[in-house]
Amino acid sequence: NWSMGNFIDLEIAKIREKVGDRKVLLGLSGGVDSSVVGVLLQKAIGDQLTSIFVDHGLLRKGEAEQVMETLGGKFGLNIIKVDAQKRFLDKLAGVSDPEKKRKIIGNEFVYLFDDEATKLDGVDFLAQGTLYTDVIESGTETAQTIKSHHNVGGLPEDMQFQLIEPLNTLFKDEVRELGTALGMPDEIVWRQPFPGPGLGIRVIGDITEEKLEIVRESDAILREEIAKAGLERDVWQYFTVLPGFRSVGVMGDGRTYDYTVGIRAITSIDGMTADFARFDWDLLQKISVRIVNEVAHVNRIVYDITSKPPATVEWE
Ligand code: XMP
Repeated sequence: NWSMGNFIDLEIAKIREKVGDRKVLLGLSGGVDSSVVGVLLQKAIGDQLTSIFVDHGLLRKGEAEQVMETLGGKFGLNIIKVDAQKRFLDKLAGVSDPEKKRKIIGNEFVYLFDDEATKLDGVDFLAQGTLYTDVIESGTETAQTIKSHHNVGGLPEDMQFQLIEPLNTLFKDEVRELGTALGMPDEIVWRQPFPGPGLGIRVIGDITEEKLEIVRESDAILREEIAKAGLERDVWQYFTVLPGFRSVGVMGDGRTYDYTVGIRAITSIDGMTADFARFDWDLLQKISVRIVNEVAHVNRIVYDITSKPPATVEWE
């Protein structure tokens, strides 16, 4: 007679038995999986858990604050926050190739995580939000294998951890159910998929503070309107992108020469194939008007009406 309540009790008992009075480290990304692992471990072993959250400055509006307030505040996790926004921007300056950007962001992430991890004394375990689907995909998982597409991966070479993967028998929908049963808010539990490199691949081409601001603010407006329309769970992913070119517009008596923002919204089952969301025109108009009025340096909005394939979900 399987139920989420039973699962929680059993998992907590298993974790306590395995960990004893030793210490566990967790990398928080802001995503559903690592957040649920954090709350579950906190329930099981309290302050024997230390979490590291590297803020690369490429999260969406309010997400870093939410991690700290909800997980750190409400759920009482002990979180070491690494404020690395400037460091990432510096490393990314002038880089426009998408794969180079991904590599830089990934490497820097691992570097900063390892740097913090090394400072901690006597940690025996590393917790990860590996799901059942990850286990299947990677085949034979050894204790040293790290989920390669995970936001935080890579162990310091001279550190030996045992892995704790409490979600590795669960599918995504069960992880959401578990999060809800643990009392976690919908904003975390129902967070849409978000790429590790974050807004870094939604500013097309080279990244600047100004461009990041445009993508972050326009994305926040899009999310707000989708939520108001009650469509959050009907759409797989929805976000704005900044192609980085400017075009002519007119505002008041004057001619403008400003950025175009693209809106991407898709329906999908697994992200492998996707169709663009058939939003109501009036909703799109409302979003368009708000973004142009409220976000500086934007004078044109386009809606992406390609499926995957031939397009991808992300623009980079
Ligand atoms: P694409 O653009 O390949 O996206 O159609 C499919 C899904 O994968 C996400 N995505 C990424 N996730 N690191 C990630 O963790 C990445 O570099 C990355 N690129 C794409 C994308 O958001 C979509 O959900």
